[in-house]
Amino acid sequence: MLPSSLWGLMALAGSAYADITVYSQVPLGQAQTTTPSVSDAASPTQTPPAYNDTILIPPAPLNPPVGNFNLTPKYNAADVVGLSRTQSADFFGFSIEMSVINQLIGRNSTHFFPPFLNFVGNIVERAGRIRIRLGGNTQEFAALVDSLPGGHAVAKAVGAAAQNPTLTPSILFTRDLFYMCNNISNLVNVEWYFGIPFNTTDWRLEIAEESQRILGDRLGGLQAGNEPDLYEAHYHRTAPYTPQNYHDEVGSLISTIASDDNVPQKSVLIAPNLQGTWTPEQVWDTNFIQDFNNSIKILAVEHYPNNNCYFTVGVGQPQYPQDVFSTFLTHTAVVGLVQPYINSATIAQQYGKPFMMFETNTASCGGFAGVSNSFAATLWALDYGLQMAYTNFTGALLHFGGQNVFYNAFTPPPTNQSSFNQWTPGTIYYAALVIPEALGTSNTSQVMDLGGNEFTPQYSIYENGVLVRMALFNYISDPSGANNYVATITPDGGQVPAQVRVKYLLSDSVATKNNITWAGQTLGTKFQADGRLKGTMSTVTINCDQTANSCSIPVPAPGFALVFFTDSPPLEMEDSAITFATTAYTKTVNTAFLDPSLLATSNGMSGKTRKLGSTSKGSSSGSLSSRLYAPGLVVLVAGVAGGWLVRRAIRC
Ligand SMILES: *[C@@H]1O[C@H](CO)[C@@H](O)[C@H](O)[C@H]1NC(C)=O
Ligand SMILES: *[C@@H]1O[C@H](CO)[C@@H](O)[C@H](O)[C@H]1NC(C)=O
Ligand SMILES: *[C@@H]1O[C@H](CO)[C@@H](O)[C@H](O)[C@H]1NC(C)=O
Ligand SMILES: *[C@@H]1O[C@H](CO)[C@@H](O)[C@H](O)[C@H]1NC(C)=O
Ligand SMILES: *[C@@H]1O[C@H](CO)[C@@H](O)[C@H](O)[C@H]1NC(C)=O
Ligand SMILES: *[C@@H]1O[C@H](CO)[C@@H](O)[C@H](O)[C@H]1NC(C)=O
Ligand SMILES: *[C@@H]1O[C@H](CO)[C@@H](O)[C@H](O)[C@H]1NC(C)=O
Ligand SMILES: *[C@@H]1O[C@H](CO)[C@@H](O)[C@H](O)[C@H]1NC(C)=O
Ligand SMILES: *[C@@H]1O[C@H](CO)[C@@H](O)[C@H](O)[C@H]1NC(C)=O
Repeated sequence: MLPSSLWGLMALAGSAYADITVYSQVPLGQAQTTTPSVSDAASPTQTPPAYNDTILIPPAPLNPPVGNFNLTPKYNAADVVGLSRTQSADFFGFSIEMSVINQLIGRNSTHFFPPFLNFVGNIVERAGRIRIRLGGNTQEFAALVDSLPGGHAVAKAVGAAAQNPTLTPSILFTRDLFYMCNNISNLVNVEWYFGIPFNTTDWRLEIAEESQRILGDRLGGLQAGNEPDLYEAHYHRTAPYTPQNYHDEVGSLISTIASDDNVPQKSVLIAPNLQGTWTPEQVWDTNFIQDFNNSIKILAVEHYPNNNCYFTVGVGQPQYPQDVFSTFLTHTAVVGLVQPYINSATIAQQYGKPFMMFETNTASCGGFAGVSNSFAATLWALDYGLQMAYTNFTGALLHFGGQNVFYNAFTPPPTNQSSFNQWTPGTIYYAALVIPEALGTSNTSQVMDLGGNEFTPQYSIYENGVLVRMALFNYISDPSGANNYVATITPDGGQVPAQVRVKYLLSDSVATKNNITWAGQTLGTKFQADGRLKGTMSTVTINCDQTANSCSIPVPAPGFALVFFTDSPPLEMEDSAITFATTAYTKTVNTAFLDPSLLATSNGMSGKTRKLGSTSKGSSSGSLSSRLYAPGLVVLVAGVAGGWLVRRAIRC
């Protein structure tokens, strides 16, 4: 049974939507009869949630059907009231619990997983960069050690060292964690975030010192606390713990950093990372930003729309996936999610700061079966991402747990079943793939929510002051086709081109978890993915009526269409020119091996521009994937080491 103290903290925390992570202190497979660990390995008795195949029943189609409609977005950004601040293509990033680094990323600076690089690389290809946070509840108790058994860069403490008031495992890490991150960034352009441990105010600054020393400007920032508004409920602080207490602790941290010469970047903090028990305004009211403006790099919050804590840790109200399913299929719910933050996003702009959603996903406590890993979650996350961009967030990190969550953007195979190509893609991944193409890489994109029907939201996207793209959603599942619609777009103040290109995000129904395609390409299905997109990229060309000045865009039920009005980027993107494949696997260890001396050979191979399907006339869509998969272009650059054969597909 769980200690009574743990029940207490869960009862307190369960009322709010924290990503509660409960850890067993017993080795996996022994005496694990009580609460499953939400973020770590699976309970041995059932299929782990990350591989769960539950298929729900989609909400009934609209009757009468949604019907066709006209849209008249302003052509010039200057004419749009309420347009967002400028956004970057790397809007969506990932947030990864430190306790699952070994499963998801790799063992150390010389062993990491090619599929991880591929999944991340697809996004970097489109966005130029991805932001990844290594943190979560586990960051608070993280401690630096000189070495760990088995050459690991990260491990959970065992025995006495593992005990702390919330049973969150103490994470031990070595300096090699940062070398691992740095080596990954040499291959795919990742900017990393960490958190300074906040379990006590005897500040342990090793994470700050070593991450700055080793990662340099690849360090994006350091969180000052994770969900401090739950510290009291989690017994990390004695009650009462108020926004003023948090303010004062951040002040103490800043003073300590100021006097630490090994932390040369002082303006590096990310705060206040509230979960929602306190409003951001309660923290702003302590003069937080005025007092700490020079030390704060990013203002951030963390929030989930719902929680599944009843069925994972036994607190709160039971919520059944089928019942909540429809709440992920409406624009109204997405709009509601950002309302508590609109004022803060404005304040962030006044102080010249980014404003990020530092941890989010479909539901805390692991997500919902059949919801978090459905095509509904893909559409929801895409709508949520564009909505956050529209309401002046500057980025959002989609959270990963271990095998015991439903919502991962991708999950490695169970450790006893290891192979490179046996990873499981999560449906939310596709949203992270599409967002950079919707926003484009100019750093000038601005987003407008055109409102519209709650099941068919639309956004217009501007770059360099003019309309360049439209994003059209259809949340309705209707196999009859009756709820397919045609949106006829007439840019107000502009002239339509002779034709537009459209990329579609499709699946058979909002309930599916497989057979999702973005512009014709897919990651594959459960235990079948290696992080590379499969199939031929296809963009659809649609002729416009230049006399009527309109383009008519069909959108199936369900589906999403990204309409490109110009021939300019983002369709032509910088080429990171790397994918990682392998032909070998082992039954014993769930890891790939990359020899560091070979990593160096990757430098200089990238940098050429390639077309990810182009809007230019005469170019052929689909050429990218055929290049990547042509056997002659899969060049062996790594040898066999420890039974592992690693190939990198490069473009010649
Ligand atoms: C892997 O573990 C699962 C769950 O414990 C078990 O059912 C399965 O038989 C194992 N497979 C192998 C190949 O050991
Ligand atoms: C999938 O998850 C649901 C919800 O936890 C559970 O009821 C169901 O048994 C799971 N399916 C399998 C095959 O484990
Ligand atoms: C804080 O975490 C460190 C590292 O895990 C641990 O050694 C220490 O005892 C913890 N302190 C408190 C007060 O929880
Ligand atoms: C990484 O782990 C492997 C296997 O345990 C070990 O051989 C190697 O030395 C480690 N690398 C580092 C940099 O510690
Ligand atoms: C990878 O990390 C190791 C440290 O283990 C370092 O010696 C090596 O230079 C790194 N390789 C690259 C390409 O950064
Ligand atoms: C606050 O800091 C930002 C940089 O993060 C700077 O651009 C801005 O001028 C500062 N504002 C004030 C009022 O000091
Ligand atoms: C976002 O910021 C822009 C200006 O920077 C402002 O015009 C717009 O009203 C803001 N949006 C919201 C929803 O507050
Ligand atoms: C966009 O911003 C990123 C991050 O600051 C930068 O690396 C990139 O060069 C910028 N792109 C353009 C086209 O300015
Ligand atoms: C996958 O989707 C495509 C297009 O939506 C459809 O034609 C095909 O039948 C689907 N395949 C499966 C296995 O459901």
